[in-house]
Amino acid sequence: MRRWSIFLVLLVVFALAGIAYFFSPIGGPKRDLSLAGDVTRGQYVIRLGGCVACHTDLAAGGAYLAGGLPLKTQFGDFVPPNITSDKQAGIGAWTLAEFSGAMSKGLGPGGKHLYPSFPFDSYTKMSDQDIVDLYVALMATDPIGVKAADHQIGFPFNIRLAMQGWKRLFFTPVRFAPDATRSERWNRGAYLANGPAHCGACHTPRNAFGAAQTDQRFAGTPTGTKPFFPAIDPETLRARGYDEAGLIDALTGGFDPDFDTLGGAMGEVINESLLHWTPQDLAALSAYLLDTD
Ligand code: HEC
Ligand code: HEC
Repeated sequence: MRRWSIFLVLLVVFALAGIAYFFSPIGGPKRDLSLAGDVTRGQYVIRLGGCVACHTDLAAGGAYLAGGLPLKTQFGDFVPPNITSDKQAGIGAWTLAEFSGAMSKGLGPGGKHLYPSFPFDSYTKMSDQDIVDLYVALMATDPIGVKAADHQIGFPFNIRLAMQGWKRLFFTPVRFAPDATRSERWNRGAYLANGPAHCGACHTPRNAFGAAQTDQRFAGTPTGTKPFFPAIDPETLRARGYDEAGLIDALTGGFDPDFDTLGGAMGEVINESLLHWTPQDLAALSAYLLDTD
């Protein structure tokens, strides 16, 4: 009997420790939020980050960043909210620390867990300066006083707290770490692709829980049902006939080496993000994708 009760007590202790671990706050590297933000630079970071493609209802000519079309996933429809400077309908009342929490940990004001349909698992890698610039640029947007619609997601995914467990299992807040053996250009490309531009959000396969399988970075889901995401790893891109200039042409002109159009979701990435990039950043991205320097 004694033995059994000790066993039971141990079991309860382990179960509680497990639950405590599961729901303990997600840590991660601290950000320097004392940097001075710059609106013009931040407007460019909005374009690097592709915020417009999701947070603007482009089809209906909706106002800039005032809320987008639902993202349809196997877990339900997620509506990208209004992120204009409006204090009620948008994020105008958010502090820089709250905004940084959303971008770096998927954690909104009051500890609200955000869904990974918002690609914070890429944005966590962004530099402190880019986060601060982004914040001041969003605070300088026209306030639009209309809230976006609610998500349409069923049980149990509608329980935000469950995202805490998801993060424990699949998410680690990190910053981009440059590879000292590679050129500055290659590192800038790696930063852009894996951080703000979140290319892996579509081109890296996900597991059954919707988490990116980082060991298969950029492997795509070329055998999936349409709309599928092609592989964009260096070998595949080269085999497809891309060189650096050709890749830049495709990422801005929207034509692949067979003169087929890159449409759908990629068309939006091109129009709302890549077409606004500087030639230097496009060159860095393409050098990194093709692994050419
Ligand atoms: C792939 C689509 C997508 C992209 C790209 C995207 N977002 Fe979002 N974003 C979402 C979705 C969906 C949500 C809602 C998440 C939730 O409710 O948990 C969201 C939520 C947010 C929130 C929290 C707002 C709130 O009211 O809780 C902020 C802030 C935000 N996004 C900022 C940005 C910024 C800044 C960018 C560009 C750097 C960006 N997003 C790019 C889809 C996207
Ligand atoms: C919202 C999802 C999404 C994001 C984010 C995204 N892509 Fe794509 N991408 C697609 C889709 C879908 C296609 C296929 C388009 C088609 O064939 O019409 C594609 C096609 C491509 C192709 C053409 C591949 C080939 O075989 O010719 C390249 C190159 C590419 N993407 C690069 C990128 C890069 C670089 C980024 C980040 C800056 C990126 N994509 C971000 C969805 C996305």
